[in-house]
Parts: sequence; C-alpha cells; structure tokens
Amino acid sequence: MIEKKLISVLNGRTETVPPVWLMRQAGRYLPEYRALREKAGSFWTMCMTPELAVEITLQPIRRFGFDAAILFSDILVIPAALGIAVTFEDGVGPRLAPIASSEGLVFDEAVLAPVYETVGRVRASLPQATTLLGFAGAPWTLAIYLAAGQGGDEQKAAKLWAYRDPDGFAHLLELLADCVAIHLARQIEAGADAVQIFDSWASGLPEAEFERWVVQPTKRIVEKLRTIHPKALVIGFPRAATLAGYQRYAEETGVDAISLDTSAPMGWAAKTLPAAIQGNLDPIALIAGGRALDSAVARILEATRAKPHIFNLGHGILPETPIAHVEWMLKRVRG
Ligand code: CP3
Repeated sequence: MIEKKLISVLNGRTETVPPVWLMRQAGRYLPEYRALREKAGSFWTMCMTPELAVEITLQPIRRFGFDAAILFSDILVIPAALGIAVTFEDGVGPRLAPIASSEGLVFDEAVLAPVYETVGRVRASLPQATTLLGFAGAPWTLAIYLAAGQGGDEQKAAKLWAYRDPDGFAHLLELLADCVAIHLARQIEAGADAVQIFDSWASGLPEAEFERWVVQPTKRIVEKLRTIHPKALVIGFPRAATLAGYQRYAEETGVDAISLDTSAPMGWAAKTLPAAIQGNLDPIALIAGGRALDSAVARILEATRAKPHIFNLGHGILPETPIAHVEWMLKRVRG
C-alpha cells in the first residue's frame, strides 16, 4: 500500500506538492452542509448522529478531493462527556454551564460512542489516498469554555481561576489532558490516521503560563496517547502563540507537526521548528481571492519548499468564502 501524502509529511518527508486540507472544511460555506443543517435542526444533533456526521465529513472530500478528511464533531464533546450541559445557539455560539471546580466531573466515554462510530464509517468510505484526521480541543482552550461558559476570546475567567487557585486549575488541566488522550486513542482505534489538538485560545499568555497551561498539558496528552499507541501521529495548533512559544511547543510537546496562525513567518518556521509545519494562509485572503490570494499562496509555497509541509489556513474557513476560490487555491497549490 502506498503511504498517504499527509502521513508521509508527518513522518518527516518533504513532498514536492504538499498535501492540502482546510480547518473547518466541513461547514457553512458549503450549500450541501447548510441544506443538511436545516434538515437536522441542530448542530449538536449532526455531531452525535453518525449518519449525518459521516455525510458532512465526506462532503468537502467529494467536492474538492482534499488530501485529508477531518472528522465532523466539536471540541466541546469532551465537556459533554464530563456531564456538563452544552448547547449551541444560532449566531451566538456555544453555551455551557460554567464551573469553578473540577469536583464531581466524571468522564463517561459512552457519551462519545457515536463519534467513534462516525470515525469507523468514514474510514470505510474514504478513498485509499485520503488521510482521516481525528481531533480534540486542548485542555487550556477547553478550560476557557468551562470557566466562562462560552467562547469568544474570553480568557479572563480561566486566567482568574488559574491565578487564584493554581492547584485546583492544574488538576482541571490534568483531568482534561487524560480525557483528551483517551478520546484521541479511541479515534485512532476507530480508524483515524492522525489527530490534531486545537488550542485556539493560546495567545497572549505570559511565558511561564504558556508553559504550564499550554505546553505541559499538551505534552501530557502526547505521552499518554503514545503509551497506548506508540506511533500515534499528532498535529498541534497553539493558535497565535509567540515565535518563542511556537518553538518551545515544537521542542517540548512531541507533536509531529505544528499548525501556524496567519501571522507566523513561514520562512522562519521552516528554518527553526523541529517538526513539520502546516497552515498560515489568511482565511480572509481566501474570501478576497484574486491577486491577494495568489501572492499569499505563492509566498507560503516558496517559504516551505524544503520543509515537510501541509498546506492549510491559519484558522478555520469562514462561512462567506466563495467555493470558486477554494477550487482556484487547490489548482494553484497542486500546479
Ligand atoms: O474542521 C472541521 O471541519 C471539523 C469540524 C470542527 C468543528 N469545530 C465544527 C463546527 C472542528 C475541528 C471544530 C473545532 C472547534 N470547535 C474549535 C477549535 C477550532 C477553531 O475554530 O478555533 C472551537 C473553538 C470550537 C467551538 C465552537 N464550535 C465554536 C466557538 C462554535 C461557534 C462558532 C462557529 O464557527 O459557528 C462552534 C460551532 C461549530 N463547530 C460549527 C461547525 C461546522 C458551526 C455550526 C453551525 O452553526 O452549523
């Protein structure tokens, strides 16, 4: 069997034409997603119903032939499996009952059974050459939602908890890291080829706190995952970490690839980071198209020519992105 292109990159090889996929590739910019979303009624129903989640995972593969499919699910399935009520409100985003202590949180893996069933069914229907990515939220980003009860760049509640009650907060992060490691292991057992850890709110942390809240919990996940699956391949996305932060994360956590935000200099990343690199294309350049998109794609390809590299966005694709721009970008990357 030939090795999948994305797996080859995660194993440290440089591909002449990089593999390409897009964060949030299954979503509202696709008419076929919006149609199914209307029928299903709620986002959560789609996540927890394998028939629907499989179909949505496959939609962008059918349309664009990306090198990877990413499981359709959400990072907030972990809080749900810990017994916390999670709801999604249209136009507002997720709402959770906020917590101030990790007491009483018990991880019920059975809640996640539909997710693993989805992974298995997607695996069975994907083309041979397409990589299947599982994922989870990182402990720090999950803790932000748990402490605040909602998203946004609202790190305040989690930071206050962490500064005022460092032991209690450290305990929460460890508990989350262990749940995430199990969740990722189950996805690999169900058929995922590799996994990505989303730390979307990793920006703006003082150096010592970045180490304690982002690097160490991620390292714990990778180590624990590899005690279960020694060859597990992991992509880390500590979004908008500083350059020093990215470097530290790449050196200490054990991830095989690091996903970079829109501001990361890709030439620097290619030279400096001891891991494969992914990401960086500005989602708004993808909306704009034309010369802005052309030069953005060209710069990324030029900077990463001699580096194991996965072409991707610096953050998720936005709902108003024209499909024609995605098609054009793919042609441009693949030559
Ligand atoms: O990448 C993919 O296509 C796979 C599916 C996926 C979703 N969410 C589907 C989704 C993945 C990998 C995520 C990760 C996720 N979820 C993150 C980390 C990545 C990031 O973008 O920073 C975060 C922070 C969440 C939590 C979350 N889920 C928020 C804040 C929101 C509301 C904002 C929004 O974009 O609508 C969601 C909802 C969500 N997750 C949607 C999708 C397709 C939109 C649901 C809808 O209304 O149809």
